[in-house]
Amino acid sequence: MSITTGTTGTGTPTTSLEVERAEARTAHNYHPLPVVLAHGEGAWMTDVDGKRFLDLLAGYSALNFGHSHPRLLATAHAQLDKLTLTSRAFIHDEFADFCAALGDLCGKELVLPMNTGAEAVETAIKVSRKWGYEVKGVPADQARIVVATGNFHGRTTTIVGFSDDPDARDGFGPFAPGFDMVQYGDLAALEAAITPDTVAVLIEPIQGEGGVIIPPEGYLRDVREICTRENVLFAADEIQAGLGRTGRTFACDHEGVVPDLYILGKALGGGIVPVSAVVGNRDVLGVLKPGQHGSTFGGNPLACAVGHEVVQMLATGELQDRATELGEILRERLAALVGNGVVSFRTRGLWAGVDIDPAIGTGRQVCERLMERGVLAKDTHGSTIRLAPPLVISEEDLHWGLDQLAAVLS
Ligand SMILES: Cc1ncc(COP(=O)(O)O)c(C=O)c1O
Repeated sequence: MSITTGTTGTGTPTTSLEVERAEARTAHNYHPLPVVLAHGEGAWMTDVDGKRFLDLLAGYSALNFGHSHPRLLATAHAQLDKLTLTSRAFIHDEFADFCAALGDLCGKELVLPMNTGAEAVETAIKVSRKWGYEVKGVPADQARIVVATGNFHGRTTTIVGFSDDPDARDGFGPFAPGFDMVQYGDLAALEAAITPDTVAVLIEPIQGEGGVIIPPEGYLRDVREICTRENVLFAADEIQAGLGRTGRTFACDHEGVVPDLYILGKALGGGIVPVSAVVGNRDVLGVLKPGQHGSTFGGNPLACAVGHEVVQMLATGELQDRATELGEILRERLAALVGNGVVSFRTRGLWAGVDIDPAIGTGRQVCERLMERGVLAKDTHGSTIRLAPPLVISEEDLHWGLDQLAAVLS
């Protein structure tokens, strides 16, 4: 396949105008690259001027299946013509199949569908607390949850309240109590933080926003063991790491670990609709009774139809294998860049955190240079670039994208 990318879209009349219009009428809670996208297919996007860009971010893993996946689009189109929203006041005909399929994928009995990742995390927090009071016997309002440094679980006030990122947290207090933070990867600290009132350990099996931070080998296994021993729930936020990205269905699978609660989002919506869920067994999720939790859009027919298709696509294991194979290329190519603009990197499957040599520029500057060459990626925490190509990317395109990275670092 011949790859035809433009130079930059920035500066063309259409792009500049659209950037200006967007800036003028939106809150500035993001600092996007100045590219204005109009179309997407597979791993490629096209801007308003017809210039093509290779997507190496994939919506922070929300687009694991790429843009406009024909199977997912067909499902969404068909469902749009049938039924889109009922609210949970009624049951619809896509609901049971989705819940059963997702529950089976996770090896769990029950599914609680929501919309965004943050909502799913909030759901897991509520369920854990309720389980703590009703099953574990923690005194009322005393429940505590252990979380990790460098975490990213979303943007609600409760969630940012237990973040240690000043940008996420500062200016948004007062915050909800009941969270104890320990160093990510430090097992002894985690064990020491557990008290009789601890109801859950909430961690990302790999910290995505943190820069694809992979905990020490055995950490997840030991967290599982401690949680079981201490009668504490293990809630794994697999929103970014899960659903194929790391080469396994779940990042926890790499250590053969099954958490009590899977927290899922992003790719579950196939890059089409927001779909999130908390998945667990009856003894935990069963604590919720009618009226105690909900969401108008959670588990709507469109979301369930798309989510069900996503689960069916994952059930074959093909995409996971692809992430493993392509991930090997990613790892080899990045290894060759160490000392040549890259200070260090971490990969798991088709996912990488790449620490850029500050002498070359900031992560943002490198992403701007990549954009000039027709590649879209995003920096995190100053000097790190996260690479998370759609799992459907071709080998040739992946090489081409990494050629561009090598070029901007040289
Ligand atoms: C691990 C993790 N949890 C939760 C979230 C929040 O998801 P959402 O933006 O859909 O609320 C994210 C988003 O990046 C995430 O990476």
